[in-house]
Amino acid sequence: MIPVPTTRPARTHARVLRADVRVALDGTTDTVTLHGPVSSLVLRPVRGVLRTVLDRLGGEPLPDDELYEGFTPAERVRAAALVERASQLLAHSVLSGDEAPLRRELVRLEQTARDAGYEPAPVDTDAAVRLSRFALCRSRDGVLVLESPLVKFRAVLADRGARELTAALGQPVAAGRAGEGTGLGPQESLDVLAHLIGAGFAEAAGPDGTFASDTEPKLRQWDFHDLLFHSRVRSGRYDGIFGAVYPYQGEIEPRPAVKPVPAGEAVDLYRPLRRDIDARDPSLTAAIETRRSHRTYGERELTAKELGEFLYRVQRVRVHHTPGADSPGVDEVISRPYPSGGSLYELELYVTVLRCAGLAPGIYHYDSYGHRLVLVNDAEVDRRSLLNVASRSVGFDVRPDVLITVTSRFQRMAWKYRAMAYATTLRHTGVLYQTMYLVATAMGLAPCGLGNGDADMSARVLGLDYLEESSVGDFLLGTPGQGPAIAGDPGPEWHMVNSPEWSLPGEASFAP
Ligand SMILES: Cc1cc2nc3c(=O)[nH]c(=O)nc-3n(C[C@H](O)[C@H](O)[C@H](O)COP(=O)(O)O)c2cc1C
Repeated sequence: MIPVPTTRPARTHARVLRADVRVALDGTTDTVTLHGPVSSLVLRPVRGVLRTVLDRLGGEPLPDDELYEGFTPAERVRAAALVERASQLLAHSVLSGDEAPLRRELVRLEQTARDAGYEPAPVDTDAAVRLSRFALCRSRDGVLVLESPLVKFRAVLADRGARELTAALGQPVAAGRAGEGTGLGPQESLDVLAHLIGAGFAEAAGPDGTFASDTEPKLRQWDFHDLLFHSRVRSGRYDGIFGAVYPYQGEIEPRPAVKPVPAGEAVDLYRPLRRDIDARDPSLTAAIETRRSHRTYGERELTAKELGEFLYRVQRVRVHHTPGADSPGVDEVISRPYPSGGSLYELELYVTVLRCAGLAPGIYHYDSYGHRLVLVNDAEVDRRSLLNVASRSVGFDVRPDVLITVTSRFQRMAWKYRAMAYATTLRHTGVLYQTMYLVATAMGLAPCGLGNGDADMSARVLGLDYLEESSVGDFLLGTPGQGPAIAGDPGPEWHMVNSPEWSLPGEASFAP
């Protein structure tokens, strides 16, 4: 075992201003503003050693002894404080062991979160090392970068040798051999590895030969894509542009608030009267408390009138706001009965009618503006394909009266929101599910939300472009049957908790 000398990384560890940071100097007030991609830092006054250290940071990556060269101990303390303050706009560089001008930058680590820090973690040459299961490589701004939802840094793989070393870490390899054939010297490889391991992109095997990202119980239960998604759709851990920033304004036309109705045979739907509904609806509490997921259906078939009322109460457009020429910058929005981020209402409903009095079987688009169903596909085989996927989600051959496919017109959201557009669509899907559940319950119908649908197949049968509009949810609806409302019979293992008296006599309940 050859331990890596711990003195060596100091000479090969350097600091430099990030390439995406712009420096603006106001000479009259000695104010320097560092403009980063998501945050800026104003420094004042910047004179003497502070100016020198900023100038040096704007050049080649420099190890500490060169960054603070010529400074007195007191000046060094002041300069180091500035480096610390600006750390999110600076990068850590791992340099080759050569002296300038031969020295090369091998890897650059850019901080992606405010409270980030790491120490290089040298490993023994015979330790097995590998990339973390959560690490990913991608091209970003034309450069290969290594990222991970577990790491608050991005590694810019500046040097070909570092890129090849990273590729070699796709499978377990002895640390001392990982750099073989990459063009990096043995010490250079170990230096890069120490940084990648210290930051968390790569990991050394434990005594039993396993890697923590495979075996640690919390990590093991995260899918790679789920953790990545979680780390990117809320701010704090990543330095990408986030929120309602209208990234494509002036470059791409926004999608209209109301989807243009596809061509096809149209069926006008029944429009309920509010006073009739008010007269017969249960209370909100009764609807919430008696709501259940139903997977079996009654002998009576759903009617076109019921379907019309259901769609009207859930998804109709009830307000359309078209900004005029005198209100630039205001979005074209609509309103529906449920809430939607930015009032963008990107969700569409497609109704696969299997059994409905007054409506021919077929796959229809719900025209939420005209309150009509427009036939988009009448092939029985396609209805069966959609139903088969729904049956897989339920666990048996399910026979609802209608199957509702929820799609998203993705660009409605992406035109306005960066980073959170799709996450918000999934939230909208949940909001819509609950609205469908409660309206169905109030109407005495049998609802059930589904957790999986085939977005690829449904795009095909609905005639959609997967990237423009495809399914994000599926929902069963029918008349209630006699079977158990919940999966499996409620038995003695079901216990009412919290105020059993809350349920009124005669209300459906879990209680056996
Ligand atoms: C987002 C979501 C996904 C669901 N996915 C399925 C599913 O794929 N299959 C199924 O049978 N039930 C599904 N359900 C229904 C749940 O199983 C049900 O809500 C849960 O068992 C609680 O029972 P309850 O709805 O009767 O109160 C889903 C519900 C929701 C909200």
